[in-house]
Formats: sequence, C-alpha cells, structure tokens
Amino acid sequence: MEYIIKKLSEIKEEGLYRECKYISSAQGSKVNIEGREIILLGSNNYLGLCNDPRLKEVAIDAINKYGVGSGGSRLTTGSYDLNKKLEERIATFKGTESSLVFNAGYMANVGIISALCDRKWTIFCDKYNHASIIDGCILSGAKIVRYKHCDMDDLERKIEIYKGKKNLIVTDGVFSMDGNVAPLNDIVKLAKKYNMRTMVDDAHGVGVLGETGSGTVSHFNLKEEIDIQMGTLSKSIASVGGYVAGKKYIIDYLKNTSRSFIFSTALPPSDIAVSLKAIDLIEKDIERRQKVIELSNWFKAQLKEAGFTITNTVTPIIPIIIGDAKKTVELSERLLEEGIYAPAIRPPTVPKKTSRLRISLMATHTYDDLEYVIQKMIVHGKKLGIIHG
Ligand SMILES: Cc1ncc(COP(=O)(O)O)c(C=O)c1O
Repeated sequence: MEYIIKKLSEIKEEGLYRECKYISSAQGSKVNIEGREIILLGSNNYLGLCNDPRLKEVAIDAINKYGVGSGGSRLTTGSYDLNKKLEERIATFKGTESSLVFNAGYMANVGIISALCDRKWTIFCDKYNHASIIDGCILSGAKIVRYKHCDMDDLERKIEIYKGKKNLIVTDGVFSMDGNVAPLNDIVKLAKKYNMRTMVDDAHGVGVLGETGSGTVSHFNLKEEIDIQMGTLSKSIASVGGYVAGKKYIIDYLKNTSRSFIFSTALPPSDIAVSLKAIDLIEKDIERRQKVIELSNWFKAQLKEAGFTITNTVTPIIPIIIGDAKKTVELSERLLEEGIYAPAIRPPTVPKKTSRLRISLMATHTYDDLEYVIQKMIVHGKKLGIIHG
C-alpha cells in the first residue's frame, strides 16, 4: 500500500489535494464555517431554496406521515405514493410521457447509459461532459468517442469516421464547470442527419433556463427531439436524487434494467416530498429566476472590467480562470480568510492549466455581499499577479 502514500504526496505537491469544508448552518448565501459567517459562492442552490420554509414544512409533514427511511429498493418495498406523484410531476415539468427517479444524478447517468447502451453502441461525448456521464459510458462497454467541447465540426468529422450501427450523442445542457450552454439545435440537426439518438444532462439548466424553469431542452424548444432528458433533484430543486424523462417505453425499460435503480435503497419520502414542492415553486417563481440571472450578469461584468478571465457563461455559474492549480488554491484560501468561500476547481475535474474559482450565485445573494466579494477579489487578484493595474 506504499503507493497510496506516494500518490497522496504527489497530489499534495501538485496543489491538487482536496479537503471538505464543514458547514454548520443551513445552505444559504451565507453559511457558518468553523464559527465564522462566510459568503458562500459555489453552491448549486441557484434559487436559494435549500432553506426555504415552504420546503422545510413539507419535509417535516412527510417525516411525520412516512417516517425517515425508505426501508427498501424501489422495486421491493421502497416505493411510496409520493414517488409516483413525483415521477408524474417531472414528466409534466419536462414535457415527456414518463419519468423515473434515481437516488442521485450520478446514479441516474451511470444507470441510464449502462442500461441503454452496450458494446454494439458508439457514444459521442462532449469532452467537458460530467464525470458521471463518462462513467456511465465506460460501464456500458460502448465505444466512446469524445468530441471537442461544443465543436460541431469536430463532432460531425468524428461521426463520419466512427459511426456504428447504434449511436448516441450525449451532452451536458449547461456545462457544470463552465456555465455555457450546449448547442442543442445543432446537435439535434446532426442526430437527425445521421439517425442517432440524443441524451441531455440538464443538472444545471433546471431552475435557471427555459420558460418555466424546466431547463435547456425547453429553452431550445426541443422536447420532441431529445430522446433522453436526464437531470438532478439536487441543485435548483434543493433536494436530492436524479431522474430520467422520456418516452414511456424507454422509462419502463430502464425501470427493469438499470442496475443503479434496481439495486439501491430508495430515497427517504421527505426528500421526495421536497422535490415535488420545489418543482411547483420553480414553475411559478419567475422572479427568482430573473434575479439570479440579473445578479450573475452584473457580477460577471464587474469582474471582467477588473481584468479577470471568465468563461463564455450565460448562467449563474461564473468560473474565473486562473490556470495554475496552486495559485487558484492560494486565491481561494485568501478569500476564505476574508469571509468568502469560492471553491478552487482543479484537474482532474477541469483540464490541466485551466484551474479556476468556480463561483456560482444564488437568487438570495445581495448586491452588497457581491460588492464586498469583488473588492476582495481585486485586492488579492492583484497581489497574486492574476490581474494587473
Ligand atoms: C452535469 C452534472 N450531472 C450529474 C451530476 C450528478 O448529480 P448529483 O449531484 O445529483 O449526483 C452533477 C453534479 O455534480 C452534474 O454537475
């Protein structure tokens, strides 16, 4: 086991060592970390619903009615009437015939792709797709062809070369570490041209994009064209779990074949109740959606003006590219001393030399808080030579 010690010290030397920061309050725009009030930047709680009293109330009611644990997997004893309601609700929200809930977004991706595809398939995968998509592809045994990030010429070139009998194009809707949106229109055109299936992971699109906040696919008006819509209940929806939405026969097939669905204890009923209520709130609360986008546009403009390099983001995910992993950690640590938690994201989560602070905003952040953040970012950005002037 000596290699573990060696590997750990290599990870530390390269500035890639990771540790948890422990929060001892509710997940909001400010949190308590080791007794200090800290402005939280980097949570996926985009609409600020994680501590919403209406969601806490339904969770408590569900606990009072159903207790705390689910006691079994969904196909044995862990399915509740709430599960059925949630799956029907997700299908309406996403505009599909049916849906199926998994215990996490990660488990959904791994379970969907490995059940639908096998060695006879070729999967075309954006280079920046989430790790859970990649893991699903690997587990499926399919041939994996990775195309350059959002580069449709590269995708078509690779389709021409590697296309097999059964083909899937899979992409994040909103890229989790970059905040940009996949060119779904063009992906659908290519899929039609070459008769391929399509799958979109909309973990970060839901709550933020689309007319009723239902995500990227509705933003592009492509509900009929995308075969598999996958998403999470853990980000804007402020709960936990993942789902797949699509045609009824696909969902029935996944219910019967997806191993991460079949062989795992179901989510507690209170989490299901929270997801159900949160979807209602998201659909109605246009102002929250607008607020987080307004804040993000303003914040981004300020940082750009100060000289920071920001990705081509159109969402509340605002990555500030630093490049060097150690410098990124240094900036993150200095900000924490100032009462700001902006996580440093490094390889292997992002490509080498593109380490970044992944800032993400919530509808509950205030302009005052963000002005303070900008001021401190400028001070430490200059000290570390990230920006000049
Ligand atoms: C694009 C994307 N897909 C899937 C997941 C996994 O979802 P979950 O956190 O619900 O397991 C994430 C979350 O980190 C994600 O960013």
